[in-house]
Amino acid sequence: MTQEYINKNKNRFLNELFEFIKIPSVSADIKFKDDVLKAANFLENNLIKIGADNVQIFPTDGHPIVYAEKIIDPSLPTVLVYGHYDVQPADPYELWDSDPFDPVVKKTKIHPEGAIFARGACDDKGQMFMHLKAFEAMYKSGELHCNVKFMFEGEEEVGSSNLEKFVRSNVELLRADVVLVSDTGIINNTTPSICVGLRGLSYVEVEVTGPNRDLHSGLYGGAVANPINVLSKMIASLHNENGTINIPGFYKDVVEVSNLDRKEMAKAPFNLSEYMLDLSIDNVHGEDGFTTNERNSIRPTLDVNGIWGGYIGQGAKTVLPSKAHAKISMRLVPNQSSKKITELFESHFKKIAPEYVKVKVIPHHGGEGVVIPTDFPAYLAAKNAMETTFGKTPIPVRSGGSIPIVPMFEEVLGLKTILLGFGLDSDVIHSPNEHFGLFNFYKGIETIPHFYKNYANLML
Ligand code: BES
Ligand code: MN
Ligand code: MN
Repeated sequence: MTQEYINKNKNRFLNELFEFIKIPSVSADIKFKDDVLKAANFLENNLIKIGADNVQIFPTDGHPIVYAEKIIDPSLPTVLVYGHYDVQPADPYELWDSDPFDPVVKKTKIHPEGAIFARGACDDKGQMFMHLKAFEAMYKSGELHCNVKFMFEGEEEVGSSNLEKFVRSNVELLRADVVLVSDTGIINNTTPSICVGLRGLSYVEVEVTGPNRDLHSGLYGGAVANPINVLSKMIASLHNENGTINIPGFYKDVVEVSNLDRKEMAKAPFNLSEYMLDLSIDNVHGEDGFTTNERNSIRPTLDVNGIWGGYIGQGAKTVLPSKAHAKISMRLVPNQSSKKITELFESHFKKIAPEYVKVKVIPHHGGEGVVIPTDFPAYLAAKNAMETTFGKTPIPVRSGGSIPIVPMFEEVLGLKTILLGFGLDSDVIHSPNEHFGLFNFYKGIETIPHFYKNYANLML
């Protein structure tokens, strides 16, 4: 019945998603503040249409939180669905093959049945919208087997700071048995997987100041320290020859993954030459003693995300700049504390600064990592759901990305999260030409109701 409803309404689901995606809800840029609100209103209207109750928009100090629920029977288990309706900035616009906020369906090698190209198609509008449509299909065909609470935020891409406050002050409203999120991925469309780990994050900005003003690089060059040269050297010193991070105490709290678990992880299909070919690189690079998939999931990292200073306009201007800047992210593994790592970074970075420059470290948002067990009812419900819709047992995979609110759900609400995502790494979220496969969108809508049914059965 649910599946019939989905089949009958497939095209409308897609059209509605297009309307949702067309709203440029970029949370990072104040210019789009009204659009972020518009996206919240879109969700409010859609939730009312599909039969959700108590639909509310909670204003915050930043962008609003959308809440709704359907309590069909207090004795049934309750699923708290979380997603984010904000998106990353679409820049650089010139690298898009089509307008980032005017979705189009195009066929690709990986998505022969077509993919939706637009900012947010996969992260996370397309994925969170699957939950509304799955709910609609279950509810309208009289096959909703769990109570549902929806909570959608507009600030995930900028650190979820107001959601954290909201969760802490609404523990009763959010009471549930498990959190269900689609904001991660699967290995590929014939190899289902469930994300069972996320990395934490510590994000800092640094500023190195040399002389009090920009100088002529001929008249002063060689006699006064150039902050860009100094910053480059400082950054270069943050990694050792073997690819480890050269900050004292950085690895202190890292829990090493057992060889047995590493062997298990290595069973996930992965082709290194295809990986390199896809990225046009002649070799991979990282911490010695770990495979590519270990390096990007169970190991912490330090990366410069942006670096600037001096003259970057056309032609050549001879200048010895006063300041140099960089944005640096450290991906953390469970048991490392984001706050502690930020402090370690700050004191180390100040310590290695030579006396001829001044250094400022500005901490940005952060969050903790998480590992999700594979032996509790909700995981089994998700696993069985994917077995039904893919005809294959999903592989548990730890991802390198971060969703800081997930460990927060555990800390504040005592709830575990199921990361039932349907995106692919090749969907290039956050980059130009982000897309989401139609196969993936519909597979998600089809799989979610099986999760509810299985979960209700297991919790009886
Ligand atoms: N949905 C992503 C995270 C993600 C993607 C996890 C794929 C696993 C697989 C999320 O929207 C995101 O981009 N998170 C940020 C962190 C946040 C604090 C800005 C990230 O990982 O960079
Ligand atoms: Mn996301
Ligand atoms: Mn994202």
